[in-house]
Amino acid sequence: MIRPIVRYGDDVLRQPAGDVVEITADLQSLIDDMIETMYAAPGVGLAAPQVGVPLRVFVADPSVGRNPDGLVVLVNPAVVEEEGVQSEEEGCLSVPGFAAKVRRPSRLVVRGLDRDGEPHEVEGAGLLARALQHELDHLDGSLFLDRLRGLQRELIVRRIHKLQRAGKW
Ligand code: NI
Repeated sequence: MIRPIVRYGDDVLRQPAGDVVEITADLQSLIDDMIETMYAAPGVGLAAPQVGVPLRVFVADPSVGRNPDGLVVLVNPAVVEEEGVQSEEEGCLSVPGFAAKVRRPSRLVVRGLDRDGEPHEVEGAGLLARALQHELDHLDGSLFLDRLRGLQRELIVRRIHKLQRAGKW
């Protein structure tokens, strides 16, 4: 089931998400829905807070479904290694219509649990490293906008507020 994606301005995007304490049927359907929602958007990643659920779960797929091995599902993820720097244009399904260059590590190793609760480690470079860190940020209540310089961030926030006032957000 495709779930509605919450947008910038919703409090759930700003609160740190809580650890998953048990792998339940509800969690499994949340994960299935998140995968479906991400592909339908389409996007390369989606974190549970973006569908209004404040839990540490995200899905990502830099191939957006084209590569059957491209799908990453992580529960309670944490960074174990990072190196390098990359700076590429980036957007977010919760901030539609806006993009900006964001500095990210060029390689990232993240450890957590898979959808069945088994330990799972994902190593990513390039777009995957970027997506992994972007989704981890969501779990900490942070958005890509927070990683921009003040003025650049201000300009985007001002335009969003204008859209909000016009009822177009
Ligand atoms: Ni995002």
